[in-house]
Amino acid sequence: MSIAEMLNKAAPIVPVVVIENVEHALPLAEALLQGGVHSIEITLRTDAALDAIRALAKADTGIIIGAGTVLNATQWQQAADAGAHFAVSPGLCASLEKQNINAPIPLLPGAVTASEIQRALEAGFEFLKFFPAASSGGADAVKSFASPFKQVKFCPTGGISVETATAYLNLPNVVCVGGSWLTPASLLREQRWSAISDLAKQASSLDKKA
Ligand code: 3PG
Repeated sequence: MSIAEMLNKAAPIVPVVVIENVEHALPLAEALLQGGVHSIEITLRTDAALDAIRALAKADTGIIIGAGTVLNATQWQQAADAGAHFAVSPGLCASLEKQNINAPIPLLPGAVTASEIQRALEAGFEFLKFFPAASSGGADAVKSFASPFKQVKFCPTGGISVETATAYLNLPNVVCVGGSWLTPASLLREQRWSAISDLAKQASSLDKKA
């Protein structure tokens, strides 16, 4: 099964997480799973991120583990070595393009214009992060890429909420949407796992219609 199919089945909402404390990784994953969300993207924005990915991979909870904010080939490899199942980048650069010849794990590069999509296709990427989604034209923009780029699937992320997610999920070229609204920093800091489960329940009840 491709990573796109796995993520589509997994919720299809991917929580984008900034984790400050490695000890939060496991209870957080359990809270998400309890709410019916079966994927997580841990952004490489903190010192704890790679250890959190390692801890989750070791715990083998069944959650699909992504590494986010992967900015170069070294981080892509580190994410794979830590046990991530997929990686996400806000954009695309030469080192990621080169590494895709021998991708250690699937990577979704970010793209929001026709030229960026063409560049990603040329480098062999067909499953892309549409980022930042809301400020780059939202669901209307994603929809307009369906016809010229039939083979491309998107995970729109950035500025999406539980209220706006459905407009994206209804599009045939959208596999899943990402967002940080399920795992706000305050709930993580206070370890309010049941509140995160409730947000996950609400998100996982959103249907992917198309
Ligand atoms: C990110 O990479 O930070 C994600 O796009 C999350 O965006 P959001 O906070 O707007 O959901």
